[in-house]
Amino acid sequence: SSGMLLHALSMPKYLSESIVRYKEDVSKLTLPDPSTFDGVVISGMGGSFISGLFLQDLASDRSSKAIILNRDVRLPRFIDEKKLLVAVSYSGNTEETLRIYLEGLRRNIPVVAVTSGGELAAVSEKLGKPVIRLPPGIPPRAAFPHLTAAIAALTSSVLGLDLLGELRRAIDELAKREDSVLSDGLALSRLLFSDVQNNLTPLIYGYSPYLSPAYRFKTQINENSKIHAFFGELPEVNHNEIMGWNGVLKSFTVVFVRGREEPKYMEARIEFLENLFDKNNIRFYNLHGNCEKRACELLSLIMKADVVSIALALLLGVDPTPVDTITQLKKFLD
Ligand code: F6R
Repeated sequence: SSGMLLHALSMPKYLSESIVRYKEDVSKLTLPDPSTFDGVVISGMGGSFISGLFLQDLASDRSSKAIILNRDVRLPRFIDEKKLLVAVSYSGNTEETLRIYLEGLRRNIPVVAVTSGGELAAVSEKLGKPVIRLPPGIPPRAAFPHLTAAIAALTSSVLGLDLLGELRRAIDELAKREDSVLSDGLALSRLLFSDVQNNLTPLIYGYSPYLSPAYRFKTQINENSKIHAFFGELPEVNHNEIMGWNGVLKSFTVVFVRGREEPKYMEARIEFLENLFDKNNIRFYNLHGNCEKRACELLSLIMKADVVSIALALLLGVDPTPVDTITQLKKFLD
């Protein structure tokens, strides 16, 4: 069970090693000229999805190329050979991602597989298609640094950004500011633990460009702590979900995931919610990052979210690592 915590706290180290490894691995692939692409499609589920969202948070307002995320079994019709399709499945055996990969091949879309093995590795190797190999034996959600570096290495030149350089500088910045990651994470885990014991369900609110830590927080509470947790995106929730706070159900405890680049319009919206929560006796907390630059801010928030979910698991007396029901589902579908 301490394995997960070690993974979470070692994220900067794994990311730094992965940047070197996948830069080299990608340089050995034969891929079309990056300038022929007008965007990238990143396809993957669960732990193999979150790194795509991270890159979208990091890059989408700075690249003129599209970053399209896919979590479906089908590819939208408009995706053509001017997109680089990155099919990400840590295990290589996720049906949704395998289908997308095969559909991409059928439609002559340039595809790269990112996987530790399984069907995805077998098919791409048999067909001589490019594949980035991840080290085996890691729970997919703990492979975040590997997946992130691999996808960044593959998409950087298409997007026209030095994503690996940015990640490297983010790790350096984080190293100077890491002190409070563990203490902030543990403090929030204790607050959430007491709320959960009072039958409150965590509801995580986030906004762009920090959607990946907010969504990661929700999925990590699900998979590590084995309880329900929900995610809502600002400002959209203010146009519907906001009505629920005045109702008869008092079911949630709220965490706002907040980054350094918080526009005034967002501050005002959060302030309104906080006042509403105070009035209605809704418990809420803020999770802040530690950094100046966006990449570092995202990484520090993800580390804190990971720590909270693992510590919450331990407080609840559950082992964060196994995800039996997901395994059973995959067997059922096989
Ligand atoms: C994370 C986890 C799941 C998987 C998801 C997809 O640890 O177990 O979220 O990531 O079921 O599987 P993969 O990543 O193997 O394609």
